[in-house]
Amino acid sequence: MKTETPVTIRLKDYKQPDYWIKNTKLVIRIFDDYTEVLSELSMVKNESVRGLPALVLDGVDQQIQSLAFDNFVITEYDYSGEQLTVQPTADEFVFKAVTHIEPEKNTSLEGLYKSGSTYCTQCEAEGFRKITFYLDRPDVMATFSTRIEADKSRFPVLLANGNPVEAGDLDSDRHFATWEDPFVKPAYLFAAVAGDLVRKDDSFTTCSGREISLRIFAEPHNAHKTDFAMDALKRSMRWDEEKYGREYDLDIFMIVASDYFNMGAMENKGLNIFNSAAVLANADTASDDRFERIEAIVAHEYFHNWSGNRVTCRDWFQLSLKEGFTVYRDGQFTSDMHDATVKRIKDVRFLKNTQFPEDNGPNAHPVQPQEYMEINNFYTVTVYEKGAEVVGMIHTLVGDEQFHKGADLYFERFDGMAVTTNDFVACMEEVSGMDLTQFKRWYTQAGTPLVKVEERYDAEQQQYSLSFSQSLKTTPGQSEKLPMVIPVKMALLNDAGDELSIDCDGNFNPETRVLTLTEAETTVTFSNLAAKPVPSLFRDFSAPVRVDFNQAEGDIFTLATKDSNTYNRFDAAQKIYLDALLGMISSGSEATPAIVEQVVEATLADESLSHAIKAALLTLPSYQMLVDNIQQNVDAELIVKARDAMRNRIAEQFSAQWQQLAEQLASAEDYQFNAQEAGRRELQGLALGYFALMTGNSTALNAAEALYRAAHNQTDRLNGLRAVVNSTNRSRANAMLNHFYDSWKDDTQMVETWFSMQSASDGVSVDSISALMQHEAFDITNPNKVRSVLGGFISNFKSFHNSAGDAYDFVAEKICELDALNPQMASRFVVSLENWKVFSEKRGALMKAALEKILNSGQRSPDVLEKVQKALA
Ligand code: ARG
Ligand code: ZN
Repeated sequence: MKTETPVTIRLKDYKQPDYWIKNTKLVIRIFDDYTEVLSELSMVKNESVRGLPALVLDGVDQQIQSLAFDNFVITEYDYSGEQLTVQPTADEFVFKAVTHIEPEKNTSLEGLYKSGSTYCTQCEAEGFRKITFYLDRPDVMATFSTRIEADKSRFPVLLANGNPVEAGDLDSDRHFATWEDPFVKPAYLFAAVAGDLVRKDDSFTTCSGREISLRIFAEPHNAHKTDFAMDALKRSMRWDEEKYGREYDLDIFMIVASDYFNMGAMENKGLNIFNSAAVLANADTASDDRFERIEAIVAHEYFHNWSGNRVTCRDWFQLSLKEGFTVYRDGQFTSDMHDATVKRIKDVRFLKNTQFPEDNGPNAHPVQPQEYMEINNFYTVTVYEKGAEVVGMIHTLVGDEQFHKGADLYFERFDGMAVTTNDFVACMEEVSGMDLTQFKRWYTQAGTPLVKVEERYDAEQQQYSLSFSQSLKTTPGQSEKLPMVIPVKMALLNDAGDELSIDCDGNFNPETRVLTLTEAETTVTFSNLAAKPVPSLFRDFSAPVRVDFNQAEGDIFTLATKDSNTYNRFDAAQKIYLDALLGMISSGSEATPAIVEQVVEATLADESLSHAIKAALLTLPSYQMLVDNIQQNVDAELIVKARDAMRNRIAEQFSAQWQQLAEQLASAEDYQFNAQEAGRRELQGLALGYFALMTGNSTALNAAEALYRAAHNQTDRLNGLRAVVNSTNRSRANAMLNHFYDSWKDDTQMVETWFSMQSASDGVSVDSISALMQHEAFDITNPNKVRSVLGGFISNFKSFHNSAGDAYDFVAEKICELDALNPQMASRFVVSLENWKVFSEKRGALMKAALEKILNSGQRSPDVLEKVQKALA
């Protein structure tokens, strides 16, 4: 663990390094309790620097064996903190180091570490310095040659970035393999693997006719779960050629599955390393959600080969340059593969559930942060998902053709370079002729803009006007906020839901149907309207803003049932549910307003809707979404009471329909993962869930258990199990959970699912979570296990914010325990406490006390410190 007082790094202090590294030559010799790393860095002084400054290299936990410049041993050096300082005597030299490291003891899962019996690496953002001394920053780009040596029988597979060039045997039953990566890259894209892995082979012929070997490596017991990822990979490769004209460059592309991994996956050049849970799947053990996620992550990491690797980030403040753009690209891919509206609904739901609260809390930061203490804390939904929204808005504003021209220009101009978000936007400006100066506030201003809308109809003049006023609340460190460029994709509808033609005096683009707001206040007048239209605004969620529009209930109902923009039907239905719930919460009432039932009824009866859209329209806003909309003095118990009352009312009122749907949507066909089938299963699961809600409903529970028992795919199995687990029948739930564990205890992904199922269920307590953490299958050094138990618990609003309020202290304790092992993972759980200020006084005080406890109980990592200090500031 890093132990010094963390320092703040600022974007405005960016300066090029004094030296560059042209080529990096590594030999990694793996032994049982240590690894020897030999590095030879061919360096040259930065031309713009005068004199011969000292060379300051990053290095963490390095046991120095020897250091040299060319063939001269370095005797004078300073290695203190996490930096090695040496004095070069020429402008050009080879810096050589031999160091020892201890991957076996590395529980941070950063640098070189052991995942089970496999050695693997994770270098983004600053892990390479745990492997050897280096200029560990993304603007230092070098070609790499990597030789790995290890015991041959235990580590038959030796991998690194690039193309394989040599392999052979060594003395004492050891062997080696050498890999060369001809493309310059920063150290964060380095990877190496040594293990006993099986491999699935395939190949891909690129658009120019080059044949690429594709390989997915997994531990032998997981060999049967790699087919889907391989297929997703090939589809991603084709898609990037067709959509973005991006061809793969090396001769080989590899994916390795690792059981111990801090995040989803990593785009190391030619050698992606994946969390097992983000790559391994088969019908029997992976649900539709899982397939969807795997496909998106495989695509995401593959797309990084261009947006991230060939063109990379100048510094970590530019993280969204590669992440926002790549999330945007993987979203387009998923939309093309499946259903664009369904994908949009899921993305917006995720953004509102996670990013809006982040923007509204103490750790709010811009898409391009201005400063950080620990960069690992900035792999956030703001940088990723809001960053993707920002790219999407550029697409909306410049149009499809210019957007792709701009992307082409970006990839050509900056190939092999480390650049900034400004460089990206400049390409879009250049091709479109549009000035995006004001637009760039989306990168620099934190917070979610609030757009207030008012409408007026003048029957005499047959004119209709919309007034928009935008505002942005102060966020930590940013008090002055300026108006944003907000694209409002819109239509005006008549009562039947038909679109009316638009004749207006505003900045409206008739081709894209986008009205662009640039001022704090904008009024737009629409002419030739014989009756008051129903406005359908922010279609497809055209901007990541909060909207405050007190629209007539009848109009919202029209949108929820008739809008031709299906996303907006979803949005309108959500608004009806949300307004109803907020009303119930503020009045303490448990009576569901009639309009809610009307929406449910109309949706159930609508034959034109796909199953997936129906399921989306019938899903209530989450508890978290309610918190986010109330924003102050939140009473958690009232929220739960109101939402549960509505859920139960819908369950009861339509129980015959739920039963019928659950039965009618059953299928005995072989499992297929596609949008239609996934939609069917989702709606079936939802119907079954509602049907099983009523206390003592044994017909429903029998149906759910039957679905579980007969299932030959994981989605059906979980739909059945979830319905019972969330019912009031504890003994039946426990029996089924035990059966699940006994049947699948040898399958890691299934055990993780089993943990999550419980931690996410109603009625779980601190005691039951503690018990799960004592379970034989639990392992606190394994992030997936921790996420499935503790992560499930903190997202389980109802249980986490139970009346006792004892979960906060418990989580604080676990954060401290984890911090000693894996700071990156520990820090991710602080989010559960950080928004303490929005809660009612008593609860807020408990949450705050838990944060203070973290701060006051010993040496904390910079990761946890930064988050907790900000939360308490
Ligand atoms: N670049 C990886 C991805 O988005 C994630 C790396 C996350 N790194 C971290 N330190 N949290 O595909
Ligand atoms: Zn990424």
